[in-house]
Amino acid sequence: MIPEVRAAAARLAAAGVASPRHDAEELAAHVLGVPRSRLALLDRLPAPAAARYAELVEQRAARVPLQHLTGIAGFRRLELAVGPGVFVPRPETEVLVQWALDTLGGVDDPLVVDLCAGSGAVALAIADELPGARVHAVELDPYALAWAERNVRSVGLPVTLHAGDVADPDLLAPLAGKVDVVTANPPYIPLGATVEPEVVEHDPPAALWAGPDGLDVVRAVVRTAARLLRPGGGLGIEHADVQGDSVPAVLHGREWTDVADSPDLAGRPRVTTARRRRPPASPVRRGLAPGQEEK
Ligand SMILES: C[S@@+](CC[C@H](N)C(=O)[O-])C[C@H]1O[C@@H](n2cnc3c(N)ncnc32)[C@H](O)[C@@H]1O
Repeated sequence: MIPEVRAAAARLAAAGVASPRHDAEELAAHVLGVPRSRLALLDRLPAPAAARYAELVEQRAARVPLQHLTGIAGFRRLELAVGPGVFVPRPETEVLVQWALDTLGGVDDPLVVDLCAGSGAVALAIADELPGARVHAVELDPYALAWAERNVRSVGLPVTLHAGDVADPDLLAPLAGKVDVVTANPPYIPLGATVEPEVVEHDPPAALWAGPDGLDVVRAVVRTAARLLRPGGGLGIEHADVQGDSVPAVLHGREWTDVADSPDLAGRPRVTTARRRRPPASPVRRGLAPGQEEK
């Protein structure tokens, strides 16, 4: 390993960074402008790069997120622009995207809504991996929305962005009852919970906190999804690993069926899914005359 990178990994480990070697290598690849795999071909960092590298390592040791230092977050097949003002997409959210793709298999020209869009990661990944999907994404925070607009422009995929609040009863009114899948990775941390410095100091507060039990925005997502989805349409909501019972509980009721919870790649509870219940067949559809009672 390049000596500067070995020293940086030790510095980051001492600072409590969770993946010190990975981050030390990513920062070296970033300052050199090469893929991480190319680092194995180098003995030392050239002097100008070494000075810049030392600065970035110190910022990472101060727990500035790696993705804010490189300006890029990898998500599924995409590289997205991120920085101050927007939530950094996380690998565990890729499970939500996979669920949406699996659920939409066989649906022609599917209509998808991603609530709480942040950088646009979920919406863009679905548009990328499901050509022909009509994808809408909703975000409340104007700073996050500006990052999403930048990503939609630079990735060049057909995602329609909306400034809006998931709690608005008129949100996306023209799509009511027509949507095949709603996804959401909402804020879900209970007020007062302890979180890593990278998160609490650098992710926007609106992306994190959601009331005393962390479910305030989840409840709004469920209400809005019930209005937007067609009968049989699917809802997928990411949640904290300790919410594998409480989020499914929000969905128990007459509007939902097939409520289930799936783990992330580390085996922790992560995504609650459900289907919008189909209304019971009317007497006419059962072959009875209007007004005639079923025996
Ligand atoms: C945890 S982040 C997820 C961002 C993105 N979906 C992702 O997975 O990377 C939650 C996002 O929801 C947005 N948000 C919070 N409350 C909202 C609301 N009431 N309506 C719409 N968006 C909201 C936040 O601004 C933030 O961008």
